[in-house]
Amino acid sequence: MNAKISPSILNSDIAHLADEIEAISAADRVHVDVMDGHFVPNLSWGVPIVQAVAGVTELPIDTHLMIEAPDRWAPDYVTAGSTVVTFHWEAATAPIRLARELRNMGAKAGVALRPGTPVEPILDHLEEFDLVLIMTVEPGFGGQKFLPNTLGKVRAVKNAIRERNLDVEVQVDGGVNRETIHEALAAGADNFVIGSALFSAEDPSVEVLAFREILS
Ligand code: DX5
Ligand code: ZN
Repeated sequence: MNAKISPSILNSDIAHLADEIEAISAADRVHVDVMDGHFVPNLSWGVPIVQAVAGVTELPIDTHLMIEAPDRWAPDYVTAGSTVVTFHWEAATAPIRLARELRNMGAKAGVALRPGTPVEPILDHLEEFDLVLIMTVEPGFGGQKFLPNTLGKVRAVKNAIRERNLDVEVQVDGGVNRETIHEALAAGADNFVIGSALFSAEDPSVEVLAFREILS
């Protein structure tokens, strides 16, 4: 599986969002972080931003829901134009049922785990998902420091995927930069959410190519 780059627009210059997305057009996805101020102590944006992003890019949209009650809200993000909708295992009432609903709507279903959530409960259900997101920071804010002790979970999920020959992406999100990406890659991640390391760079388009080079 080719490694994918999913820039997080959370810390981009949102007054010029279309230009920011244009700058990362050599990436593989656009990662949209939805926060509700309850599941995480921060508030970002919702359905309208996904619709707006879908209107200015051909890149698939990877929506990361850091919200309570994803069972109720996640389908709306498929309708809004997301290719992948990832919800948190900790927040869902019926995660398997929700994943099936998202797939039935034509989207890819992702499941995310906070740093403190063990991976074992999802290992029996990997075929229900297209993507497993191992958070490498506590969700809620961009610009935090990568937590290397989360990489054991990346290894565990990757091993299970390999053993069973499944087609599931392993995504890491939080604190990924030109240094930490090597550790995540070695642990088995194949999809890299990158926020501040891209958008705080002078030229995000150059930075995407630099990450592409590292992953090639
Ligand atoms: C954190 C979000 C991340 C974040 C990544 O809760 O899920 O997607 O924006 O940003 P960096 O790369 O700055 O950690
Ligand atoms: Zn995210």
